[in-house]
Amino acid sequence: MSSDQIDRELAWLGRLWQWRLAEHFEAAPSAEPTDAPPPEPLPALLAALPAPLHGRDARALLWLAMAPWLQPALLDMLFARRSDTGRGFTEFGGLAHGEHGAFAPTGETACFLLGGMEGEQRLQAWRLLHTLTALDQGAWLQLGAAPEGQAALCGAWRPGPQLLRQLLGPLAEPVQAAPSASLAHPLRTGLGWSDLVLPPMTLAQLEEIVLWRTHRQQLLVDWGLGRRLKPGYAALFHGPPGTGKTLSAALLGQRCARPVMRVDLAALVSKYIGETEKNLAQLFDEAERQDWILFFDEADALFGKRSQVSDAHDRYANQEISYLLQRVEEFPGVVLLASNLKGNIDDAFQRRFQSVVAFALPRPAERLRLWREALPAALTPAPDVDLPALAQRHEIAGGTIMNAVRVACLRAAQRADGLLRAADLDEGVRRELVKEGRSL
Ligand SMILES: Nc1ncnc2c1ncn2[C@@H]1O[C@H](COP(=O)(O)OP(=O)(O)OP(=O)(O)O)[C@@H](O)[C@H]1O
Ligand SMILES: [Mg+2]
Repeated sequence: MSSDQIDRELAWLGRLWQWRLAEHFEAAPSAEPTDAPPPEPLPALLAALPAPLHGRDARALLWLAMAPWLQPALLDMLFARRSDTGRGFTEFGGLAHGEHGAFAPTGETACFLLGGMEGEQRLQAWRLLHTLTALDQGAWLQLGAAPEGQAALCGAWRPGPQLLRQLLGPLAEPVQAAPSASLAHPLRTGLGWSDLVLPPMTLAQLEEIVLWRTHRQQLLVDWGLGRRLKPGYAALFHGPPGTGKTLSAALLGQRCARPVMRVDLAALVSKYIGETEKNLAQLFDEAERQDWILFFDEADALFGKRSQVSDAHDRYANQEISYLLQRVEEFPGVVLLASNLKGNIDDAFQRRFQSVVAFALPRPAERLRLWREALPAALTPAPDVDLPALAQRHEIAGGTIMNAVRVACLRAAQRADGLLRAADLDEGVRRELVKEGRSL
């Protein structure tokens, strides 16, 4: 969306606030109601937002949530203090602000903007907050959990990951701090959730992780389950190579708008064996502070059966591995572990996963989708290309399909006739099968 459109909308939000404050403070509001009508939305704005966000009130709440991101000074007028008590105005809401000096709106701020002090209008605004936060499970707008024992509207009023992506594009991705001792690196992908080709059951299990992230505060704090449930969520992804485990981990980060940090187990083992637990402690502390999602790829190296693990570093293994397991267990966020074989993971550890997600080899219909979506639109398939037959014939993983497509496209590029031929694809598959020690 163009910055012009965003500027227009924010300017309107500013006018709306001025009107609201004038209405609130002036004993006799100006004779002429100037309830700051919104600018005509440009088509790009409407295209970027789902219909429930098109209305005037919803738009006002949307830009209120975005103001701290786009124009933090816009809300400075809400820092005004009462002359009698020297405190801010309770009716404006807002989080007690920490290091960042900008006014951070809350549900209270949102209700005041739309309803002022008028009871019924405030309730209406509150209902709208509910509707908007429920849209795609908080993907667009969110009302953060209020601190324990406080009114629900004390929660932060803030944008959800989808809204940030729509408005900010790649800028929405959090800037990565250098992880401690380089034991972890950000995992990213250029793909989106809709590119994931998995059976509904598997997708549902992944959704459950997002659901946990979205509602854990409510379960643990508001509903008091924190006394009985562990604060974190550990999931094991297991399945053959190239079935989308790493991709899914990266996409979960996108969905939750949190960085996924891939823990480099090789570095971990070499660095921390022989040292103290300091490096590990640092990593987990930082992950906790920054609310990272931790991803342990090839988890067998550390979470494998004790006998297999201990060969490599039996001198130190026991004590430090149990420290690692303990930190993973106590980690209050999401921990994902990937392995090619579920049976490789220590049984004692398996029982502690909140979910075990099987990544199977794709079935023919899924393979067809993977083939279709992988082929570049710029290449015209020659008449002899029969993707359904190709998908049916070769029982191979998504990663293998991607590699085969690379080989096929290179052949097409070399020929430079803009055509992708069946022979290109066959050669791609053949090479992959040879690599995997299988034959055509
Ligand atoms: N289920 C899938 N849906 C969409 N794309 C997939 C899927 N599986 C694999 N791919 C494609 O193959 C690539 C490799 O998959 P990925 O690295 O996620 O596999 P993996 O299960 O982590 O494999 P490994 O066990 O070797 O680590 C992905 O980046 C993606 O392009
Ligand atoms: Mg992987």
